[in-house]
Amino acid sequence: MDTAYTVEQLRDAVTDAVRAPSLHNTQPWRFRLRDGGIEVLVDATRRLPATDPSGWGVRIACGAALFNLRLALAVAGTPARVRLRPYPAEPDVVARLVPDVPRRPTPAEQSLHAAIPRRFSNRAPFWPDPVPADARWRLAEAARAELCWLELLIGVSAVNAFAEIARSAHRVLERDPAYRAERTDWVRTEPAPDGVPAAAGGPQSEPQDLLPSRGFGGLNRAPGRDFEPEPLVAVLGSAGNTAVDQVVAGQALQRVLLTATDSGLSASMLSQPIEVPGAREQLRLSLGRFGTPQMVLRIGYGQPGSPTPRRDVDEVLELPVHP
Ligand SMILES: Cc1cc2nc3c(=O)[nH]c(=O)nc-3n(C[C@H](O)[C@H](O)[C@H](O)COP(=O)(O)O)c2cc1C
Repeated sequence: MDTAYTVEQLRDAVTDAVRAPSLHNTQPWRFRLRDGGIEVLVDATRRLPATDPSGWGVRIACGAALFNLRLALAVAGTPARVRLRPYPAEPDVVARLVPDVPRRPTPAEQSLHAAIPRRFSNRAPFWPDPVPADARWRLAEAARAELCWLELLIGVSAVNAFAEIARSAHRVLERDPAYRAERTDWVRTEPAPDGVPAAAGGPQSEPQDLLPSRGFGGLNRAPGRDFEPEPLVAVLGSAGNTAVDQVVAGQALQRVLLTATDSGLSASMLSQPIEVPGAREQLRLSLGRFGTPQMVLRIGYGQPGSPTPRRDVDEVLELPVHP
């Protein structure tokens, strides 16, 4: 039985991997082929020093890319055996994947894989239609399958309590000029292979908005109107908060996002309350769960939109010197 990956298979899988989300679309990842396997590495030069001082966001993004990579290899017929942080002396190596026993992909793997190119952060207002119970269950299951939890905030008071925490975290962050400058630097008004296209940044925020928006875009909006009726807000959390836990959470995030796409739902991310340590702790206490919140999602039925650009695979994939 031939269990080696071909370079072509790995290139295709990396094309899927880079569709993962990342802070300000910085794409802080690299991939290298080595000894018959493929490795995912952080690209430390693409970490945002003010927004992501600890590297949490980089590890979430690399975890999400890793999930796409796993999915692509499984759908190509040879799932990977994955070791997280395989070399203690090289903490930049997030994961090493080697071929496992070939098998047919499951229908669930195929439909999640098909969702990769369709997923994008939808920051526009969602329709009022509630997310049905079976879709909520699928989203929570997706997080559980990747060893994380997804807490869906049910009821006006839970959402309002969360919104209070999120808005205050947003105010704390906005006071930092370096944080504001990073956001401005990564908004793109011309075609570019990274950064957030202004058109994808969502509408301008208004003082009455329930949830804070990061303010990438500023598309015009009728003043004085509510952004949307109460959206579904979900908090994704992991058992611990080590570097490995954050990579695990990134994989769970991507599985939840692809599950949402596959269910016809849109989502956007909201990480201000994760980035401010005090807010994150308040959020953790308000949920009463063990573990650490790693991301907040806003989920609902959205208007159509389009995926954002990515850098070319050749820019992020290092081939072996001796093939
Ligand atoms: C760790 C992390 C934090 C993020 N935080 C936010 C956020 O607070 N607000 C937001 O609108 N998008 C947030 N995003 C989404 C990114 O901006 C988005 O993934 C990126 O611009 C690429 O666009 P795409 O998701 O449409 O592919 C976050 C993504 C990651 C991985």
